[in-house]
Amino acid sequence: MSDAAAVDGVLVWRVIPVSFPAEGRTCDFEIEGIRLLLCNALGNPYVLHDECPHERVPLAGGRLEGTVLECPLHGGKVDVRDGAVVERPIRKRATCYAVRIGERGLEVALPAHDPAA
Ligand code: FES
Repeated sequence: MSDAAAVDGVLVWRVIPVSFPAEGRTCDFEIEGIRLLLCNALGNPYVLHDECPHERVPLAGGRLEGTVLECPLHGGKVDVRDGAVVERPIRKRATCYAVRIGERGLEVALPAHDPAA
């Protein structure tokens, strides 16, 4: 049985395979080769692609204050709610994914696998 809980257009809801971290903490994980970062920002879950838009290093290990995540390499900052740039040297928005509470826990909406790709 697949982890897919539902299909909405080209997105598939997948169960997040890690526990929701404590407030102000993050937890990295991977689904089908996509590195992701689950954030507890002020009690709410957000998921980002675990890759800094500046130099593509993992954002895991960065400090989360409120909804702002600081990259551990150069200190650039993004808002985990929508990936918006908060501070340079990051210039490009971070990739964020929708999160919901499903029947089996937290789920993240990921692009559906294209078998023709
Ligand atoms: S690699 Fe993240 S700010 Fe430079």
